[in-house]
Amino acid sequence: CLLLLSVLLCVALVSGVYCVLLCDVVVLQFYAPWCTFCKQLDPVWHQIGSELKSLGSPVNVGKSDATTNTGLAKEFRVRGYPAILMLKKGVKYNYSGPRTKDGIMDFAHRVGGPLIRSLSSLQLFQHAMNRHDVMFVYVGATSQLKGNYASAAEELIVHTYFFSATRDVLPKVTFLMNDFPYVSEESDGELKSWINRERFPMYFKIDSYTLYAMGESGNINTPQSDVNTHRNFYFGFMEGSDYINGLVMGEVIVPSLIVINLSNDGYFLPPGAVETERHLLDFLNGVLDGSVQCHGGNSATQRIRRFIYDAKVTLTPVFSQAPLLGCFLVGFPFTILAIFCYLCCKARSNVSDDDTDNVVLLASSQQHRKKTTNKKSD
Ligand SMILES: *[C@@H]1O[C@H](CO)[C@@H](O)[C@H](O)[C@H]1NC(C)=O
Ligand SMILES: *[C@@H]1O[C@H](CO)[C@@H](O)[C@H](O)[C@H]1NC(C)=O
Repeated sequence: CLLLLSVLLCVALVSGVYCVLLCDVVVLQFYAPWCTFCKQLDPVWHQIGSELKSLGSPVNVGKSDATTNTGLAKEFRVRGYPAILMLKKGVKYNYSGPRTKDGIMDFAHRVGGPLIRSLSSLQLFQHAMNRHDVMFVYVGATSQLKGNYASAAEELIVHTYFFSATRDVLPKVTFLMNDFPYVSEESDGELKSWINRERFPMYFKIDSYTLYAMGESGNINTPQSDVNTHRNFYFGFMEGSDYINGLVMGEVIVPSLIVINLSNDGYFLPPGAVETERHLLDFLNGVLDGSVQCHGGNSATQRIRRFIYDAKVTLTPVFSQAPLLGCFLVGFPFTILAIFCYLCCKARSNVSDDDTDNVVLLASSQQHRKKTTNKKSD
């Protein structure tokens, strides 16, 4: 079936070159010539290509100009640039992590390899444990749960590794399942969302991509499930304050502590200095019980504030470096707007002066006619 799908895809695509690519395993970058992010990615992309080759990886690396190969880009629903995705046996996997060499290499290795990696010995198990902060392991024989596990892996391999093992190779460790129990075995949707929530390490370096992915991964504290079995918070640290400055629309002093509500972009700041564990716990409890005030959010007024803030941040460096260009950038749209308004008003008064047909302002001349007919019926 997969083969048929890839054959169909190949036939659907006009260019024969991509057939070779499509029928293999390939990480593909869609770029646009004008996109600066794509240009920055270029050297990284070449490095990835040569490194995967020297490692003997089955994954090929390719890139395609989405502005000339529009058919292909459409086929893969490319929206932003650079878009990175993997095609494996005709199945498409999106990459949504940071545009770094390590991130993309890990993605290529993970998705290009087997869906579920078998850990057949204690050594392999321990090696995997050393390499991964969080790992999902299916333990046991074939069952419905294993089927669900495979289908979850099909979807979530873009984010995390999936393993399987037999009971006898498990190291003697306290089993994590007790800390994050996954209860129901029936629904594979539940398994997927459980994996999606728990795939983040306890405390780790977060970038804006990961933060976005965390927001996408769904509510970490689903109301229908036992509250004690779920985390209320993800913990992590961010390097630099650029992202957070953008979020709070101001200058955050580093280091500082902030809680973000990923479902509405609201944020919470500690009421006083956080010096002890007790202070931190009180702050976190305050966030949960609503006694700490939530700032920001995604309401209409916040969006307007954000728009103004973004405009300010974008234009300030332009003004300080090239005031004339700044004036032009701000002035130009306003001038166009003013001219447009002027023309509109002029045309409108023309229409009411005499009823000569005005092509551009068809709507307003019709309105005018309606008014006159209304008057007549009065
Ligand atoms: C990949 O991304 C595209 C566009 O961004 C989206 O339409 C598509 O559903 C995504 N595919 C998967 C498997 O997430
Ligand atoms: C986070 O935002 C959601 C959606 O607005 C809201 O229902 C939830 O109560 C908020 N959580 C906290 C801890 O404020």
